[in-house]
Amino acid sequence: MRLCLLFLLSSCALPTEELSEARPGGGLGDTAAAGAAGDEVPGLGAGAPFADWPDTTEGLTNVSADLIEVLERGQLAGACDRWLASPDDRRLKLLCGKSMFFYEGFGTLGIPEALLDFMGTEFPDEVGRGFSKLGLIEDPQIPGRALGFGPGAATEALFGDTPTLAMTCAACHFGQLPDGRYAVGYPNLQYRYGTHMLLLFLAPQVASPLYDPADYHPDALANVQPVIDKLASNRLLSIRLGIDLLPLLGADQPEFGLEAQANHAKWLPGTMDFMIQPLPLEDDVHTVSRIAHLWGMPTAEEAAGAGMDSELLAWTGSAESLDDFLEGFVLVGDGDAHWDTERLSPLAEYIRSLRPPVPLSVAPADELERGEEVFSSEGCIDCHDGPRGSGRRVFDFEEVGTDEALRAWADPDLDGWAPDGTALTHGIKSPRLVGLQTFDRFLHNGSVGSLEELLCVDGDRPPSAPAPFGNQGHTFGCDMPTADKRALIGYLEAH
Ligand code: HEC
Ligand code: HEC
Repeated sequence: MRLCLLFLLSSCALPTEELSEARPGGGLGDTAAAGAAGDEVPGLGAGAPFADWPDTTEGLTNVSADLIEVLERGQLAGACDRWLASPDDRRLKLLCGKSMFFYEGFGTLGIPEALLDFMGTEFPDEVGRGFSKLGLIEDPQIPGRALGFGPGAATEALFGDTPTLAMTCAACHFGQLPDGRYAVGYPNLQYRYGTHMLLLFLAPQVASPLYDPADYHPDALANVQPVIDKLASNRLLSIRLGIDLLPLLGADQPEFGLEAQANHAKWLPGTMDFMIQPLPLEDDVHTVSRIAHLWGMPTAEEAAGAGMDSELLAWTGSAESLDDFLEGFVLVGDGDAHWDTERLSPLAEYIRSLRPPVPLSVAPADELERGEEVFSSEGCIDCHDGPRGSGRRVFDFEEVGTDEALRAWADPDLDGWAPDGTALTHGIKSPRLVGLQTFDRFLHNGSVGSLEELLCVDGDRPPSAPAPFGNQGHTFGCDMPTADKRALIGYLEAH
């Protein structure tokens, strides 16, 4: 049973003896994967995880310093209608998928529009217009509104029939790179999601005449102090916020306990726990996940050809395919059930077309060659030999040594099942190693700040914080000569 849970249901079809032979100790090892078709597929065998792959973008602009260009110069509006009128036009299909990526809320739970727009326009110094100081990007077409929000559900139980805005994929999977370019598929490592949530919850409370700071967690209040100060010193602003939110009067507040508030205040930008109040799914464990990069996702054929049991999505590798993941996203968000795989297919196809930003500078050829050799000789290739340097199986936390709080994600009693019936792995996948030159947060919990730190260029990583924030583990390569580390970093940053 444990084997099935560890490696998703599909591997349960294998006879048990075959599994235990695959790796002494009982887990399904990489030898099982290597024995499959992987080595026969050109470009995906050991040694060529970074082989180029077909460009399927249809000329869409997904990385550019020009935001208007990334938004396809207005062509996203109505793109799905145009595609439905010409269903064989793949470029239109991708444009439709891209418009969903930026603007479709899928009828999932939303935030009252009036609150979001008030906060996004009235605090330019504290949070920026469109929350730009919290790492979101203001929509050039709707001043004060961040990209990454679309019409949400009429969540009657919570907010009556007030219009709401739900997060779209773009809130977390789009952003501005440190080099200034905007990129779709970038894990928005600037997005201070925890602070954003606290702000949207606390601002209406602070503006209320009944506000008593003793009712809230001090760390949460400190996290949004500049906004509290402004509301306290500007009565008129508080009154206007109160008037804007009048339609919500008497609506039930989502529950947001003190512990959950404190946790929101602790998350680094680009990291979060979704299964926590005030969201409706509480799994009773505090885990932290860095937003995933969506670049270079494998197709189902590619994953199978590389000997992977599934597409191994999410940090735990529990999501078997992008289609499953997307349907799950809509379901978990309590969205409209009519968003089935077929209706979601433009979005899935668009996401599969995303490529990492082309590096602005690349190490000299001899350095890259040395880096490639080190990638093999240091054993990186043992666990990063799938498409784009991803692993081909799920690893036990013991094998990698990183913070293991995530083991209990959605599953505090560790019985292997999430509330929605998904089989969980209790393990960790090794992510695709592309686009890394744009990251300043590594590992699943974002606890490591650079590749230099990951490879201990300046010595061992000093311990950072207790679980789920620990930065221990994955010390592969840490005892190499510095020159080899530099060459390896150059190689990793070239993809
Ligand atoms: C509030 C932020 C947020 C929003 C909004 C969001 N995601 Fe994510 N996404 C994450 C985080 C965090 C992870 C990593 C979760 C984990 O694995 O623990 C993730 C992981 C993923 C993955 C797994 C990628 C991989 O290689 O393992 C996919 C695919 C994905 N998201 C697609 C989407 C799509 C499509 C949407 C819009 C429908 C979306 N996400 C909306 C934060 C977000
Ligand atoms: C035993 C398997 C294993 C070996 C060997 C290994 N890795 Fe990993 N690698 C992983 C896993 C699993 C993760 C995810 C760990 C986590 O986030 O907790 C990972 C994460 C990473 C990341 C972080 C990516 C991101 O998006 O944050 C980088 C970079 C990386 N590995 C590079 C390397 C290099 C370079 C080597 C060789 C020096 C190497 N790995 C050796 C399994 C391995």
